[in-house]
Amino acid sequence: MNDAIQSFDLKSIRAQFPILGEKIRGKDLVFLDSAASAQKPRAVIDAMVHAMERQYANIHRGLHWMSERTTEAYEMARDASARLLNANDRSEIVFVRNSTEAVNLLAHSYGRSIMKPGQAVLISGMEHHSNIVPWQMLRDSHGIELRVAPITDPGELDMAGTEALLADGKVGLVAITHMSNVLGTYTPAERLAALAHQYGAKIFFDGSQAVVHRRVDVQALGADFYCFTGHKLYGPTGIGVLWGRRELLDAMPPFLGGGDMISSVSYERSTWADVPHKFEAGTPAIIEGIGLNAAIEFIESIGYPAIAAHEAALTDHALAKMSAIEGITVIGRAQDRGGVISFTLDRAHAHDVATLLDRQGIAVRAGQHCAEPLMRRFGLDSTARASFGIYTTHEEIDALADTLGRIREFFA
Ligand code: ALA
Repeated sequence: MNDAIQSFDLKSIRAQFPILGEKIRGKDLVFLDSAASAQKPRAVIDAMVHAMERQYANIHRGLHWMSERTTEAYEMARDASARLLNANDRSEIVFVRNSTEAVNLLAHSYGRSIMKPGQAVLISGMEHHSNIVPWQMLRDSHGIELRVAPITDPGELDMAGTEALLADGKVGLVAITHMSNVLGTYTPAERLAALAHQYGAKIFFDGSQAVVHRRVDVQALGADFYCFTGHKLYGPTGIGVLWGRRELLDAMPPFLGGGDMISSVSYERSTWADVPHKFEAGTPAIIEGIGLNAAIEFIESIGYPAIAAHEAALTDHALAKMSAIEGITVIGRAQDRGGVISFTLDRAHAHDVATLLDRQGIAVRAGQHCAEPLMRRFGLDSTARASFGIYTTHEEIDALADTLGRIREFFA
């Protein structure tokens, strides 16, 4: 895909999302919860409906026309995902249900077979639970140490602290977010990959948030594994991707056993299909794969430079507006950050703030954002979080700020 800035016509982009025309209690929907799950463009909805209405059968199995056409349509998502991440080869794209499943696959397969007891996994202090708990399970079952790289008060990774945890050479895998779902912080992925490799570790990035907003090139980053989920990328739920370097995936045992992942089966022993199918047991999320392909084509039709520029402008605008409201504290002030803004309001619980915003048609998330240890790091039990997508407008940010101003007066 040509990375030259393509035209970014916000009005026509918004027109492609049917739900954005909805009213919430008679008010225009202001959807500021895209980090939890993004809305779906018409192209994704239509591709999925078309597949079910016109072209549906199980895939990889049938010799009949319907099965072949459906297989082709589904496998286009693998090509699209390989393009999206600049993978070396389409076989490096493993379909999973979501990012959580990708991390579990890695922890089960790479963690239990390639890593050895006594080695360590290094995560950071700004991880989603999905990039904490599978590693804790590995620690408890397999004698792998779990280390946590510290973060600074502005919400950036403490690179000196990170290096100190790598220095003894025991870390076999660094597993780290590429963009925090709470702080909006981008981690310095290239520097981290170089650092991990310097100390003999492999590196996995949870790209659930990052891939939505910025061009990700796994080869340029120097990543070994990378994952993302379809539903945050304007695609459907139930499908995501784990990318891994081919030689690493080849060396890893399967995660789940069953149909589609075998080469042959007897009662004595079974042998495995080649990657990626070795990791894709059972009938996959066929319709969702077709939807993911449409979502990636949608992203490509706009282009990351335009997406990133739009979202950077929105984030600057939102930070300026929110900082001007007395009593609002934005959590995390990283230099390199994206359109996810967590905040607190003096004397008000985040749930109350979210409920009052909702009364004005403004949807934000409130709570711990599946990142309880991170909340504790900042001495909080919850925040409200506004997060932006390709369809977010400056006017919506203004509506958020104006309403927060009124909510502040109410609590004052
Ligand atoms: N991981 C999603 C979020 O951060 C659900 O909201």
